[in-house]
Amino acid sequence: MQFPTTRMRRLRKSAQLRKILSETTLNPEDFIYPMFIKENLKDGEKEHIDTMPGQYRFSLNEGVDEAKRLEKIGLSSVLIFGMPENKDEAGSSAYDEKGIVQKTVRKLKEETELVVITDVCMCQYTSHGHCGIIKDEKIINDETLEYLSKIALSHAEAGADIVAPSDMMDGRVDTIRVDLDINGYDDTLIMSYAAKYASAFYAPFREAVCSAPSFGDRKTYQMNPPNINEALREAELDIIEGADILMVKPAIAYLDVIKAIKEEFRIPTAAYQVSGEYSMIKAGIEAGYLTEDVIFESLMSIKRAGADMIISHYAPEFLENYNK
Ligand code: PBG
Ligand code: ZN
Repeated sequence: MQFPTTRMRRLRKSAQLRKILSETTLNPEDFIYPMFIKENLKDGEKEHIDTMPGQYRFSLNEGVDEAKRLEKIGLSSVLIFGMPENKDEAGSSAYDEKGIVQKTVRKLKEETELVVITDVCMCQYTSHGHCGIIKDEKIINDETLEYLSKIALSHAEAGADIVAPSDMMDGRVDTIRVDLDINGYDDTLIMSYAAKYASAFYAPFREAVCSAPSFGDRKTYQMNPPNINEALREAELDIIEGADILMVKPAIAYLDVIKAIKEEFRIPTAAYQVSGEYSMIKAGIEAGYLTEDVIFESLMSIKRAGADMIISHYAPEFLENYNK
């Protein structure tokens, strides 16, 4: 059929028609809200994050209260990042059973029905800010695995539903799976940051949680942005090692990677709209160059690319608007 018999514009004639013909819809359960919980803040305190306008570092109680407020308007899941009082070479506060993440998880599991996901990494906890153990300024892969595993196990013991390793060491999914299983946590899920790129979009996050490396960069462990075949290999390895859910990060600059992984493996796939994506859109809106519609358009693009779950600092905005 050709013009004038076929007229595509008929499909867009009215708002009602456009609505019923939408190929993609965003739902509250698509969202995972990343939260920063800071150890040395007092009850009731929260600190505004200047590099991420509208986002906060919460004290334990304040964070749990915010999670409860969001649960009431439809949030199903949170991703917890901790900011410890003390850092050392080995990031030992990351696997302390009384650590900030462990305490937060316990309280969230007691007081909410939320699916609780924890970020498993060392960079907020190490004095050097790298995601692993350092020797002669090198990040040592195999030695790091034992630490990641201890961290993941401590999160599982606190009640985390899903542990999410973000370090990009080789073999970590396998090591964590084996350790969880022998300790009786065979029903704790692993969401692996399978394709995590060495991205400049993480800058506001590093400022927010004080995790910038004190020397060098993360390019020897995080992925090189031009590569997609490599992302598929990373994904395949993580599946073989036992990952339940894969993640691509960042999201909007890597929509092709989300789509490729989803199509190739048909595994639950999450995408992380990272701090820089959040802040750049926020800055455009605050400057008056963009409207808030950009938020929903960017989230929609991630869903349309194939993401089953979207980790985004815009989760509250989405839920508040959805309920209007
Ligand atoms: C660290 C980690 C990072 C993010 C999540 N976990 C940053 C990094 O790798 O330096 C980025 C999140 C964001 O920018 O929103 N393992
Ligand atoms: Zn890290």
